[in-house]
Amino acid sequence: MTDTHSPDAPLKCAIAGCGGIARVHLDAMKNIPDIEPAACLDADIAAAQQMAAQAGCPAFDDLDKMLDCVPLDCLIVSTPPAFHADIACKVLDRGIHVLCEKPVAINLAQAQTMAAAAQKNGVRLIPAFCHRFAASSAKMRDMILQDSIGSPALVNILFCGDGSGLAGRWFSNRALSGGGVIMDTLVHSIDLFHYLAGYAVEVHCTATCGILGLDVEDTALVNLKSPDGVIGDLFGSWATPSGCARIEIMGSKGTLFFDYNIPDILVWRRSGMGEEHISIPSASERFTNQLRHFAGLVRGRAAAPVISERDAVESMRVAEECMTAAIKTAPAGSKA
Ligand SMILES: NC(=O)c1ccc[n+]([C@@H]2O[C@H](COP(=O)([O-])OP(=O)(O)OC[C@H]3O[C@@H](n4cnc5c(N)ncnc54)[C@H](O)[C@@H]3O)[C@@H](O)[C@H]2O)c1
Repeated sequence: MTDTHSPDAPLKCAIAGCGGIARVHLDAMKNIPDIEPAACLDADIAAAQQMAAQAGCPAFDDLDKMLDCVPLDCLIVSTPPAFHADIACKVLDRGIHVLCEKPVAINLAQAQTMAAAAQKNGVRLIPAFCHRFAASSAKMRDMILQDSIGSPALVNILFCGDGSGLAGRWFSNRALSGGGVIMDTLVHSIDLFHYLAGYAVEVHCTATCGILGLDVEDTALVNLKSPDGVIGDLFGSWATPSGCARIEIMGSKGTLFFDYNIPDILVWRRSGMGEEHISIPSASERFTNQLRHFAGLVRGRAAAPVISERDAVESMRVAEECMTAAIKTAPAGSKA
């Protein structure tokens, strides 16, 4: 750590990239006494100043200057993906821990460089896969480990929505995003599959530019297989405005089903025993849970780490394989 403040003082955290998701992280920070905003950085100084005014800390548009001026324990990277690796590596090289938004980078080589920088400097690089930190995800994982559904056979995840507003934004500019719905949304599903079933040993992907006709894929189906033979069926789309966000896990003795639109209930179906509704309080507090866990990792106090540098690298390994297939099946700007 670069700071000399008391070990009991709140962790001093900077935010790099003061857009939409940064506001969610700042709100989450208000719920955690152990971590406080110390600086806001954005290439657009007006965006940094606006967030800094809310957070009560200084604003910067130059990373080196911020790192020279403000003692930090940790930093959240929330810029478009193309800038994650450069920012994270500079920060890690200063001995500062990093929570990095997804996708952690725009390709596997960058993710590996970032993880190596964390290891070399003895600090953490944690990918911000917030869905791991929904209480529903932890409950499903526990129930699988407790044999509540027998041997899992299928993890089916659907994250679908309206991406029509993404034309002209960095999301649909491959140089800035690394890809379309695979890098934006399916990377969450890939990470959830890793959390629930283990790291994928087989990867298949079909993608289309569908009805939006962007330069990146707007719709994709990813099929994975875990070392134990669990099959992942992951679908994501920006071209389905009616929307849907749900997870279903089917096993030899039963099924778990979670719908983000009914966030307080996990449905457990058992062969011959009907359906049970398990209450999941605060299932929507995933960003607060994520930041609290990150603070625990920075302090070296997280008893059972939920996520690691390896998860950053494995998610990019699979996403990159999917992108290679997607570029073949969905040429830029093609209509389905
Ligand atoms: N976990 C989630 O559910 C979730 C949700 C939305 C976005 N994200 C991720 O968060 C990241 C940011 O997404 P967003 O929706 O907040 O984008 P955004 O466009 O709203 O904000 C990005 C900000 O970064 C700034 N910026 C751009 N280049 C910069 C640079 N080189 N240095 C400093 N600042 C720079 C921009 O000026 C902008 O203010 C992306 O990686 C995205 O995939 C995650």
